[in-house]
Amino acid sequence: MKPTLPFLKPILFVFTLLLISCTKAPQIKGGVVSAMPYASQVGVDILKKGGNAYDAMVATNFALAVVYPVAGNITGGGFFVYRNADGSSGTLDYREQAPNAAHRDLYLDEAGNVIPNKSTIGGLAVGVPGTVAGTLEIHKKMGSLPLIDLMQPAIDLAEKGYAITEKQARSFKRYRDLFIEINGPDTFYGQTFEAGDILKNPALGKVLRSIASEGIKGFNSGWVADALVSRVQEAGGIITQQDLEQYEAKWRDPLIFNYKDLKVISMGLPSSGGVCLNQMMKMIEPYDIKTMGHNTQKSIQLMVEAERRSYADRSEFLGDPDFVDVPLNVVLDSLYINKKMSSFDWNRATPSSEIKPGDSYYFESDETTHFSIVDDQGNAVAVTTTLNGGYGSKVFVEELGVFMNNEMDDFSSKPGVPNMFGLVGNEANAIAPKKRMLSSMTPTIVEKDGKLYLVVGSPGGSTIITSVFQTILNVYEHNLPIQDAVNAARFHHQWLPDFITFEPNQFEPSLLKNLNDLGYAGEEKKSRIIGKVDAILVDDSGQISLGADRRGDDTAVSY
Ligand code: GLY
Repeated sequence: MKPTLPFLKPILFVFTLLLISCTKAPQIKGGVVSAMPYASQVGVDILKKGGNAYDAMVATNFALAVVYPVAGNITGGGFFVYRNADGSSGTLDYREQAPNAAHRDLYLDEAGNVIPNKSTIGGLAVGVPGTVAGTLEIHKKMGSLPLIDLMQPAIDLAEKGYAITEKQARSFKRYRDLFIEINGPDTFYGQTFEAGDILKNPALGKVLRSIASEGIKGFNSGWVADALVSRVQEAGGIITQQDLEQYEAKWRDPLIFNYKDLKVISMGLPSSGGVCLNQMMKMIEPYDIKTMGHNTQKSIQLMVEAERRSYADRSEFLGDPDFVDVPLNVVLDSLYINKKMSSFDWNRATPSSEIKPGDSYYFESDETTHFSIVDDQGNAVAVTTTLNGGYGSKVFVEELGVFMNNEMDDFSSKPGVPNMFGLVGNEANAIAPKKRMLSSMTPTIVEKDGKLYLVVGSPGGSTIITSVFQTILNVYEHNLPIQDAVNAARFHHQWLPDFITFEPNQFEPSLLKNLNDLGYAGEEKKSRIIGKVDAILVDDSGQISLGADRRGDDTAVSY
């Protein structure tokens, strides 16, 4: 065998270097992760055209209203958390609010009992929507491209149509009878849809055109407002044109706290998300959860005990801060938090009755929707928006092509009586005119060492907060790649009812048995899925990776 010629060595070296640099994955500049492929693509197209993360938020939000009618919306509400590239941050609250004619006992009969379904189905369940006001406010303050450029993709999706996914076709079928019951046999979603069918919604396209040309007036006055108000009232509701006109989105300080070397920027009241996340993370901070391992008996025990204690406080103290004095200085105080955990015992579950008495039942819902955006400047956006239940109140406004929300159910109809998520509330979350109902939505942005680290959020009613809690820990404590972190099996405890909900067939029977032996009741069958987390991670070297939850049609698009 001939010896290698010496001059070949440097050539081979350069060739190898070239090969490595050519095969290395291109650096991702940013991206969008949302519940639907079309919506993520629309957002990234805007980023590619030079729009910023806030422009992409507007475009993605309107696109979701078209292609994801189960939760995307112009007739619901939401929360927007942002962090600018320079590190400044803030939030916008565009949560629905109670109509002027609402009152504390709106859902009670003469004997003072809650009338079943009144706050969940039909016109009386509808809160005054905030999504259009909020989205336009974000565009006005933070956008850089003309509104029509951001809305045109959604208008096109409404008018030219989009292909229905298999999961959507199943969802439309599941609800079809109810749509017809509430809206009559000729209702738009009374049609039968198959996967792959192209769904056009020209009525919604017309509304979007009205908003694009006239701004908020194109939604809260004129023919759009007339159609909305008359349909809601016909369905038994109390919303008026004045309610629509008086609605304002509110800029609020974010809820910020530290966990080890992380700075967590989340949504404050009227969402309970940030407050509960703060409490739960501070309760577990003194423990070495990294060594306990991911989804082990010990880590589940610790997190469940934190969740139990935090949801108990949620029920008692939290509500719209413009209406009630919420003792945040107490519930977020470190001495108070440590004291709450002092009754935690590794050898036995703390019965919820020892935290605070009561009982309730809990149904998991996977509705609401979250999306995360990072642009090439490093601006970050976390948005969670909702109609509350799937397709909200099921009241459909044919002329506008939209379902109305059933957000009024997030109020406490009566102290101690659970809502559709099994959450109990108290006076702090009682109904009052113009008051905003307590939410669990937890759009969150996390910094590490002063730099953008994680953008995260989830749908899932009461399970939103615990889904976000687990995802942050999956990434930070358990070093899971972002896709694995959002896909990982989840569990949930909300104080009442006193059991842990586990995603079915994801946890070892021996683990469930061991927990059961310690007094933790476990319920696998009451849950289909817990949350659908869409998240973006920026690692220590600045590499961006995106995680779209396997549980839905969620899609990550980067550029
Ligand atoms: N509608 C769900 C929530 O706001 O928590």
